[in-house]
Amino acid sequence: MYRLITALFVLVAVTVSASAQSLPVPSYWLNQRGSEVKLYNIDAQGHFLGVFINHAAGFACQNTPYELRGHTWGDHVKFAVLWKNWAQDCKSMSVWHGRLIGHTIWTRWVLYTKNINGTISILRGKDNFQLQP
Ligand code: BTN
Repeated sequence: MYRLITALFVLVAVTVSASAQSLPVPSYWLNQRGSEVKLYNIDAQGHFLGVFINHAAGFACQNTPYELRGHTWGDHVKFAVLWKNWAQDCKSMSVWHGRLIGHTIWTRWVLYTKNINGTISILRGKDNFQLQP
């Protein structure tokens, strides 16, 4: 009985890990706001690098590339962008976390913005990123 339960447990673990999707890198993604994500490097631990080009209406720091750093494990994906480059410093940072399902990364994000008086504003939302051919 004990052996049967162990065998079943191993079978379930193997099936779950085999079905978890892994993030394709290099790859190119567009979200529903028109923003672009280019992923160009990933290491053996799942740490990846890329660029984020923001085209979302109503936000600052648009149309130039910002460095993106992230981590993926199984179908989980987490990445962050510090909105500072040679062109602009928006004194803000975004963090996305979510899951890769099929050709879509479904995420929730948090945008932290430092105000002129030193306080931090927090905005939350959802983005989904579609893998582009
Ligand atoms: C800022 O406005 O301070 C910097 C740009 C923030 C862009 C946000 S991040 C979450 C959301 N998804 C996008 O594609 N752009 C906005």
